[in-house]
Amino acid sequence: MAFRTLDGVEVRGKRVLLRADLNVPVRDGKISDLTRIERLSPTIRELADKGARVIVCSHFDRPKGKRVPEMSLGPVAVALGQVLGSKVRFAEDCVGLPAQQAVERMRDGDVIVLENTRYYDGEEANDPAFSAQLAALADIYVNDAFSSAHRAHASTEGVAHLRPSYAGRLMQAELEALDAALGNPVRPVMAIVGGSKVSTKLELLGNLVSKVQVLVIGGAMANTFLSAQGVAVGKSLQEAEMHDTALRILDQAKAAGCQVVLPVDAVVSAAFKPNPPTQTVPVGKVPADTMILDVGPATVAALIGTLPSIKTLIWNGPLGAFETKPFDASTNALAEAIAQATAAGKIVSVGGGGDTVSALKLAGAHERLTYLSSAGGAFLEWMEGKVLPGVEALSKDLSNLG
Ligand code: 3PG
Ligand code: MG
Repeated sequence: MAFRTLDGVEVRGKRVLLRADLNVPVRDGKISDLTRIERLSPTIRELADKGARVIVCSHFDRPKGKRVPEMSLGPVAVALGQVLGSKVRFAEDCVGLPAQQAVERMRDGDVIVLENTRYYDGEEANDPAFSAQLAALADIYVNDAFSSAHRAHASTEGVAHLRPSYAGRLMQAELEALDAALGNPVRPVMAIVGGSKVSTKLELLGNLVSKVQVLVIGGAMANTFLSAQGVAVGKSLQEAEMHDTALRILDQAKAAGCQVVLPVDAVVSAAFKPNPPTQTVPVGKVPADTMILDVGPATVAALIGTLPSIKTLIWNGPLGAFETKPFDASTNALAEAIAQATAAGKIVSVGGGGDTVSALKLAGAHERLTYLSSAGGAFLEWMEGKVLPGVEALSKDLSNLG
């Protein structure tokens, strides 16, 4: 998809409304992961260095139109200042007088963060009046929040139509990586899809079978596929009501010439807890009183063996119950092989989605893929083949602006 970047855009002295995704994870009142802030900082630095007045806006959590004090962006603004190593001011509101006054006081190169856009109902409602209030603060709009681009909200979509609008560098990097993985990839492409439920990844699977040459299904989702084909999976987590759907996906794959790879062996246990007694069994031999908690070593070896025959790999969802040892083994081993193939220049590898990032971090591979998306829901919707409203708004013709 064509979109406008910041290349050649004159920003000196201009007020730039930068939509960021400052919806960072917080544990015990502390920001537990700075990744989103770190990835955003090059865009802010570039704009500030070029003399723009950078007005950062974002949602934080889901306050549903109320001023929930725990959901203030104040502490996140402090963290942003620390990451940037420069002064970042905070405006107590995202629209109205406090925001206007804070913007009026800015000088070229300054950075401010506005309070949570979701303190207003108009944000999620994509209310034109609220978009207009945001737009009034700025001369141009830059969206660097790919991870919020699946939301058609005022700050991600509505305002983009009211000012000349561009993709920030993080948005640009995400879109280029995703294009290389699935939009316009070098073939053959292998997709690895894991996670627990077929029901949440139905559209994703349906889209992938028509786009990739090899589709690997892991995680508890694989149990549903195995069970649908008459394989006994013991006490394993699975969705019996999705059997017909699973069979239909397999038919679609066949018709599209997509090879579906399911586990051939499994690590099973009678209990789901850290380090329980386990057995490794072929998938046809899962004891009735046990559950599958990871794919087995033969499956991992087969997957690693496939890597030399593919050129592009896209990964969403872990292969096993990776948060509980030793059921992280297959995910770790595959992640390491993918990281090595990537380092050797043999494949382009792209991963994304909440659990995938955590799993790859634990595997020590998160910085060794070609690209790891910082998006959760947006990455999934994009893998489903959906047009993301926040991205679409950046591809519109500028000539219709007043
Ligand atoms: C995310 O964390 O996935 C994005 O910031 C979107 O948040 P939301 O799911 O609350 O819209
Ligand atoms: Mg979310």
